[in-house]
Amino acid sequence: KLEESKKVVLEQPSEPARKIKISQGAQFRDQRVKVCGWVHRLRSQKGLTFIVLRDGYGYLQCVLSGKLTQTYDALTLTTESTVEIHGHIKALPEGKTAPGGHELVADYWKCIGKAPGGDEAFTNVVAETADPNSLADRRHLVIRGETASAVLKVRSYVLQAFRAEFEALQLTEVTPPCMVQTQVEGGSTLFSFDYYGQPAYLTQSSQLYLETCLPSLGDVFCVQESFRAEKSHTRRHLSEYTHLEAELAFLSFTDLLEHLEQIICGTLERVLANPQAKALLDQLNPDFKFPSRPFRRMDYKEAIAWLNEHQIPNEDGEAHKVGDDIAEAAERKMTDALNVPIFLTGFPREIKSFYMKRIEGDEGFTESVDVLMPGVGEIVGGSMRMSDQAELLAAYKNEGIDAAPYFWYTDQRKYGTCEHGGYGLGVERFLAWLTNRWTVREASLYPRWTGRCTP
Ligand code: 4AD
Repeated sequence: KLEESKKVVLEQPSEPARKIKISQGAQFRDQRVKVCGWVHRLRSQKGLTFIVLRDGYGYLQCVLSGKLTQTYDALTLTTESTVEIHGHIKALPEGKTAPGGHELVADYWKCIGKAPGGDEAFTNVVAETADPNSLADRRHLVIRGETASAVLKVRSYVLQAFRAEFEALQLTEVTPPCMVQTQVEGGSTLFSFDYYGQPAYLTQSSQLYLETCLPSLGDVFCVQESFRAEKSHTRRHLSEYTHLEAELAFLSFTDLLEHLEQIICGTLERVLANPQAKALLDQLNPDFKFPSRPFRRMDYKEAIAWLNEHQIPNEDGEAHKVGDDIAEAAERKMTDALNVPIFLTGFPREIKSFYMKRIEGDEGFTESVDVLMPGVGEIVGGSMRMSDQAELLAAYKNEGIDAAPYFWYTDQRKYGTCEHGGYGLGVERFLAWLTNRWTVREASLYPRWTGRCTP
């Protein structure tokens, strides 16, 4: 049969075929079209070959019949091969289902690049049963899957929506550098490298740069990669992550919290208003509950009391006391129990960064906020910043930070200071919450974590 199939030659019909993306299918029903893509699924039955074609825009069922199923390529076709298929898109008869409610009835097709079968077949290489490490090695193939690609599409819609919401709120986008010589969130998580003979770091946060933009550009935001040489190997820590940060001038802590509610809810509204994004979210997280406003406010001291009331111990297995950092496990337990977004505010000075503004009358604590989401915990860290130069200089000293390399940051307090604040949102954590993923690794195109810098 295979020998005979080599003699079967297909002829292209003379009627021209318009090249379309699968997402345009509904617009071109009953017209002759040409679609190119990858064989996502393949099955033969009663002399017909059914191909679910994938082109990155959607999925389309294609039906080959007669001579089209008898060529050598038809008999040896494999999933993930690339093909070009011509024909008419027809609505499906009642009772049948396929993506888009239609199928491409092919009158001509050709194979562009055949993928291997046998041991090397895609389904064997990217088997769902494979161990996580070998799946991580094959991330470049895993992203072809329906779930992985849906998360990446949602990621794109989410970034678009954030940008649109920032624009509506009149924040200007800036692009701060990745290579820096100052730390923001403590020396222990810095990645350092040699910069023409000088020590330099990969940025942990663009916050300090955003602060310098306020006097010239007004409120600003950026979407920049941040890097952390984390000691924590958890399902929400990456070594490189996409950090969405904003900084706003002349505002109070209450204004900052209200802004945060708006940016989160406004972005979600935009995502859900997009039918493509909505469909993917229904697929990934059918139980998604839109957060109700205002978000629950909870003071740090109140949280410590809550944890003790609910017998959730600290990392040493003891009762929490004021001053303790609330570790990931405890924070998750609390957030999952309350099951709503939480603004956790007023952290102690000792466990937070040097630049944070103190609470007037309660100087051991800061005007700081973490946004906690069920299933993930902290997705945002933000605060008001010190606006007084002398206080800032004292804070460097207190932290053992040499003030010299921060001259440009200190100058902001010298040349016209103002009350201001901002925050950083971990895009992968936001997505893990929104799309209900077990780990932030699924929300990153090529995630990096301890020991993993490939592919
Ligand atoms: O709380 P963080 O460290 O705050 C800052 O960097 C501030 N300078 C931001 C600012 O005010 N402009 O980090 C902010 C957020 C966290 O809430 C978390 O969502 C995310 O960044 N994040 C990480 N995401 C993935 N992997 C990691 N290792 C992360 N570290 C922080």
